[in-house]
Amino acid sequence: MKTSHQAGLAAALALAAALVIPRLLAPPAEAERAPEEGDARISADAAAPLPAPPAPPAAKQALGERLFHEPRLSRDDSISCASCHDLGRGGTDRRKVSIGVGGAVGGINAPTVFNSSLNFAQFWDGRAATLEEQAAGPIHNPVEMASSWEEVLPKLRADAAYADQFAALYPDGITAANVADAIAAFEHGLLTPDSRFDRYLRGEREAMTAREIDGYQRFRALGCTSCHQGVQLGGNMYQKFGVMRDYFAGRAPTAADLGRYNVTKREEDRHVFKVPSLRNVALTAPYFHDGSADTLESAVIVMARHQLGREIETRDVEAIAAFLRALTGQWRGKPLE
Ligand code: HEC
Ligand code: HEC
Repeated sequence: MKTSHQAGLAAALALAAALVIPRLLAPPAEAERAPEEGDARISADAAAPLPAPPAPPAAKQALGERLFHEPRLSRDDSISCASCHDLGRGGTDRRKVSIGVGGAVGGINAPTVFNSSLNFAQFWDGRAATLEEQAAGPIHNPVEMASSWEEVLPKLRADAAYADQFAALYPDGITAANVADAIAAFEHGLLTPDSRFDRYLRGEREAMTAREIDGYQRFRALGCTSCHQGVQLGGNMYQKFGVMRDYFAGRAPTAADLGRYNVTKREEDRHVFKVPSLRNVALTAPYFHDGSADTLESAVIVMARHQLGREIETRDVEAIAAFLRALTGQWRGKPLE
């Protein structure tokens, strides 16, 4: 039962909230100006500016960053996460498919690690739910790091600096779960806000050129946003590759081409993939899970044809590609490269 003191306190808090909250919710004076033409379209859109990364536990992030660049996570100490997710190359290897330990050729294109914490699931087929779960994948993948926790953990435990760093953060020291946790903490900091598109969405009209804005309007009018939507312009649903026209016709599909079918074994998931984010897409060629498109323009043509059943004019292709190039954000205060 509440005491009268608690009841009095609750009433006082309610009163304070009633006085303060409306003021917090009231729009700033600037927002009261008459909307310019185009405002309604922009505010009604499915996209939103990327937030700044959350303030991370600095020590854990630093450990995660070191592990992300640690070749001892691979069988022969030759390959780190950064080998395939180069932070100076848009978080990818810019190869059609990745090359792992001993030159092993992978079966699929490496997506960027930038903003991957915002994906609703990890990998093209969504087989890992979280970044923590994802991290064990490449370590064990024979065409990536070709190793195992049994091999990796003793190597890390033999390093006194790691032993200290882990001991300071985790009571149980160097374990598989803690390595994954630290790497994921680092990855959570890999958000890239302040692209020119984000600035435009925040009302800085001059941040994008007329052509890029035109490309954005076409991107929406054509219906690209039915799949590439939300803060990431993607990363929040699965869709078939080849909705309107068969993309895989005339070729023997690889295991990777089966997409989400590999996870669920359901016929309706054949050729279904996570819709990739288009953030920083100008930096991550070649495109698609099979790395088959070398340029943004060719990726846009394939998308219009196979996902929307449309043959679009070169002018529109170029405008959309120009818009996509405005999606390059910043990390640690510098534009991504
Ligand atoms: C040999 C190259 C290679 C190495 C090394 C590698 N990756 Fe990857 N990474 C890939 C490829 C290829 C994929 C896509 C695999 C798939 O979807 O089936 C991928 C997918 C991912 C994804 C999912 C992104 C998304 O949008 O779905 C994340 C996150 C990731 N890797 C992080 C890491 C981390 C962390 C490490 C180190 C522990 C690592 N990778 C090591 C090639 C590599
Ligand atoms: C029906 C859903 C859907 C629609 C509509 C759609 N896309 Fe996609 N998009 C996808 C999927 C799924 C993929 C991944 C395909 C793959 O590689 O397996 C993708 C991949 C891409 C890629 C490659 C990204 C990368 O990192 O490899 C680009 C660029 C792209 N889409 C742009 C567009 C544009 C521009 C439009 C409109 C003309 C569009 N998409 C319409 C679902 C869609």
